[in-house]
Amino acid sequence: MRRVRKILSKKALKVLFLVTISFYIFYVFGVFHHILEKDFYTDFHYPYDGNIEEVIMQLKNNQTPSIPPLNSYNFYFYKSCDNKCRNINDLRLVYIVKSAPQHFERRLAIRSSWGFQRRFSDVEIRTVFLIGLQQAATIQVSINEESERFNDIVQANYTDSYFNNTFKTMSGLEWAVKHCLNAKFYMIVDDDYYVSTKNVLRFLRFPTHYPQYLREPMANLKNLIQSRVPLNLELELNDNVRLYTGYSFHSAPHRHLTSKWYISLKEYPWHLWPPYVSGGAMVFSNQALTDMYYASFYTLHFRFDDIYVGLLAYKTKIEPFHSEYFHFTKKSYYKFNYGYVVASHGYEDPKEMVAVWNEQKSLGNA
Ligand SMILES: *[C@@H]1O[C@H](CO)[C@@H](O)[C@H](O)[C@H]1NC(C)=O
Ligand SMILES: *[C@@H]1O[C@H](CO)[C@@H](O)[C@H](O)[C@H]1NC(C)=O
Repeated sequence: MRRVRKILSKKALKVLFLVTISFYIFYVFGVFHHILEKDFYTDFHYPYDGNIEEVIMQLKNNQTPSIPPLNSYNFYFYKSCDNKCRNINDLRLVYIVKSAPQHFERRLAIRSSWGFQRRFSDVEIRTVFLIGLQQAATIQVSINEESERFNDIVQANYTDSYFNNTFKTMSGLEWAVKHCLNAKFYMIVDDDYYVSTKNVLRFLRFPTHYPQYLREPMANLKNLIQSRVPLNLELELNDNVRLYTGYSFHSAPHRHLTSKWYISLKEYPWHLWPPYVSGGAMVFSNQALTDMYYASFYTLHFRFDDIYVGLLAYKTKIEPFHSEYFHFTKKSYYKFNYGYVVASHGYEDPKEMVAVWNEQKSLGNA
């Protein structure tokens, strides 16, 4: 009898042990999270929980909104470059570069390559860098000098750190609306990107047919467009277009506890993110950027900036337009495979970035 009991309890212990271990493993890999998630398609809502189109209109028209805002970034700009875009006719593109305070060399490299404002004599382009606040006084002294010299630093009152990226991006949207509202397009891009300004401009002329349209003879192209759209359409997007584009995803939150991007159910309970564009390189038309900025007054802060921008788009009913010519991981470089690349991540080394850019420029691709 005692022997049986002993065997049983040994067995029970073993079972208990296995059950505990598997529960633990399930937990770490987020299995319970997945079971408890809410359905994005049927159950998604994110505070503020109402239709915000009307209040966005009111804010845009400088009226007092009927519903008080739930969120306001309201940055203080230590450096605002407020004359950057002033009195420019036909400002085509503004690069708003997310940079870290100490990345002086990357900023120099960008100014002399894709961020060069006079790249094309007939296209107005401007470049600014977004920086937050940091501790080291010596770095701030250098930033002050840099700002004097180049007039392209936009510094606002948020602490500059990785998980404050949403503050950085939102300072960019706010800066654009308050100090540079006359551009047709804005590109918010990280300082470790290669960008081809030429391809950004070509892409923006006709995003749905990039790069195919570049290969078609003009006559064919006109036929192609006219057969689909009954207007005498020039190759140019309408001023009211709401374009939010880059490499887009409709993916699931990371639920394993070991992930750098782990998200608890409490923070975000749905099984999918809203559709969003990878945060390293996002392009907005003027209307999209304006609407999304005002939507932020009615969208609870979220710490991942690309998800937050995706939430803003969702609230304003803007669908991201996907383009595979924005590479969110580095596209391995060969002289002849970068012809249509609009942007590529993975250029932490400014010398490498400039070398690639110079080579592509000499080939007519940058
Ligand atoms: C920045 O300053 C403004 C006041 O000018 C304040 O309302 C806001 O909360 C500050 N933001 C942060 C992130 O500290
Ligand atoms: C983000 O910035 C705010 C405002 O400066 C600050 O209070 C907060 O501690 C920062 N968060 C992180 C993670 O650095």
